[in-house]
Amino acid sequence: MTADLFSCLPIVRASREEMAEGAVLLRSFVGDREAELIAALRDIVAVAPFRRMFTPGGHRMSVAMTNCGSGGWVTDRSGYRYSPDDPETGKPWPAMPPMLRELADSAALSGGFAGFAPDVCLINRYVPGAKMSLHQDKDELDFGAPIVSVSLGLPAIFMFGGLKRSDKPRRFRLEHGDIAVWGGPSRLFYHGVAPLAEGNHPLMGPQRLNLTFRKIR
Ligand code: SIN
Ligand code: FE2
Repeated sequence: MTADLFSCLPIVRASREEMAEGAVLLRSFVGDREAELIAALRDIVAVAPFRRMFTPGGHRMSVAMTNCGSGGWVTDRSGYRYSPDDPETGKPWPAMPPMLRELADSAALSGGFAGFAPDVCLINRYVPGAKMSLHQDKDELDFGAPIVSVSLGLPAIFMFGGLKRSDKPRRFRLEHGDIAVWGGPSRLFYHGVAPLAEGNHPLMGPQRLNLTFRKIR
């Protein structure tokens, strides 16, 4: 009887996978907050559109980026940093919608980090072929706070290594709605994203979005 009643509901099971000490993958954590999250992103991008920035070495990144919060991560010929204003518009980045902040806080808590309170969210857009080389997130002042990373759209292969660039990364498939949290002993682990495979996500189209929440001060 019960089986008949529920047979029309999609089965999305949240589950967790340990990536390393202090690092966890929360599968399908976004859950029914998906529509609200996508609507909030649309509003942010209308004010601060995605753009492909240049690395200090003069290479144009394949990933397009924007930000919300009290600062935004930027890169140009003079280096990587957090800027209170969007260099494209000269205006402050859009504020972080409370819904985004709450999602990040609850994911951090599930990952074992209470009281996260991120002040910045970097939003990355990958089209097929776009990638992110191995790097550490180390432009923040406070390494006591974790990184919370939300995936939407096409699946990606996330590479998660160790404290040394030469540490062999483990590979994890990040899917729509998954959230990765890393902090404590793995806060400064090298990580990156393999070139995105071709595809068309039913909701997001031929792209992947990633939101990384950080506490920068
Ligand atoms: C990043 O490390 O900034 C992005 C990670 C991701 O896209 O999953
Ligand atoms: Fe990163």
